[in-house]
Amino acid sequence: MDHFTYRDGVLHAEDVPLAEIAEAVGTPVYVYSRATLERHAQVFAEALSAAGPVHIAFAVKSNPNLAVLKVLARQGYGADIVSVGEMDRALAAGMPAADIVFSGVGKTHGELAAAVDAGVAQFNIESEGEGEDLARLAAASGRRAVATLRVNPNVDAKTHAKISTGKAENKFGVAYDRAAEIYARLAALGGLEMRGLAVHIGSQITDLAPSRAAFERMGDLMRDIRGAGLTVSHMDLGGGLGVPYRAGEELPTPADYGAMVTEVTRGWDVTLMFEPGRVIAGNSGILLTRVIRVKPGVGNAAFVVLDAAMNDLVRPAMYDAWHEFVAVRPTGEKMVANLVGPICETGDTFAMGRKIDVVEASDLGAFRTAGAYGATMANTYNSRPLVPEVMVDGDKWAVVAERIEPAAILAAEKVPDWLE
Ligand code: LLP
Repeated sequence: MDHFTYRDGVLHAEDVPLAEIAEAVGTPVYVYSRATLERHAQVFAEALSAAGPVHIAFAVKSNPNLAVLKVLARQGYGADIVSVGEMDRALAAGMPAADIVFSGVGKTHGELAAAVDAGVAQFNIESEGEGEDLARLAAASGRRAVATLRVNPNVDAKTHAKISTGKAENKFGVAYDRAAEIYARLAALGGLEMRGLAVHIGSQITDLAPSRAAFERMGDLMRDIRGAGLTVSHMDLGGGLGVPYRAGEELPTPADYGAMVTEVTRGWDVTLMFEPGRVIAGNSGILLTRVIRVKPGVGNAAFVVLDAAMNDLVRPAMYDAWHEFVAVRPTGEKMVANLVGPICETGDTFAMGRKIDVVEASDLGAFRTAGAYGATMANTYNSRPLVPEVMVDGDKWAVVAERIEPAAILAAEKVPDWLE
């Protein structure tokens, strides 16, 4: 459920007509709904409430906007970060370091040191070498870093190949068969307090069976490690729950996921940790865009050329992802369209042969479910502006990230003397 609905035939974000934002800020622009974000945060937390003590860390990578993080901080969410840049954002949003989990396969020495200094709650270590580096760094400053070992359970999440992370050939975590031995070695290092295991098998997961299989394998490993006399007090089960991108698509809900987790982890006697991103932010945002012009295509499908492009929303070009497109003022008529942006490559295509609301030049439209992995993956290809972001709250709205104009990016470039 979200708060992007039609009132008097016009698409609104909460109580604000989207045309008002388009007029004031220009397009393309991402629009987030505070009420939707809060609702998703609450629904997810509620779904896990029967599973015992739980810590939820929002995957900042999915939407790092400061105002978004602030909303989630107020819901008691911590942060799952993968860089010091993300750590600084989470701290700036008021998320305490004690609620921050540091994930990622390539944490540099500088990043590990900065996070130790900041007092980050937990490091999810992805290799033996990283564990040794972290132990050394922490010991050098007289500290013990709290850590879990991320394990690759060799389970196929049955999602897009580019966002699958739990198969043996993926770069993430340590091999399942070596995990108990590595855990014991790291637990013996003075600078580390090993407190558990972490797993994350992929993103946009639409079938709970692979997650269940991975969690069961992690339970077995937990019992092996405990059997060797070591402590396992925390189990980080990652993120990954998918969201419906197509109208009418039926997917496992947070409640289904919560019931599965509660069943699989019964008797584990741990604090469970989660790192959801998309399921919180996805449906909380749309990308608002204006039709530049409509030109004929082959057959009956016209090219609808939008002012949004693959640099603003890369998911269709990168993962063949589907985002519903709707008119802000639908007439009730439908057309078949190829939805494209103005960028000079054919990859700049949002959809081919899609049945959409009839639109014509200067009409507004919106791509739905664009709140996760949308603005954060935007870039300035073709020297286009970096897309701005707006948050709506009831009948109020504010720009929460300004459009970065090409002139500002040009100003950061220098021509060396020897080219003058
Ligand atoms: N935890 C870890 C360790 C992760 O790598 C990720 C996502 C998450 C949590 C959050 O996963 P979520 O709940 O959002 O599925 N750009 C891609 C998605 C990349 C996901 C990367 N890792 C896309 O647009 O589909």
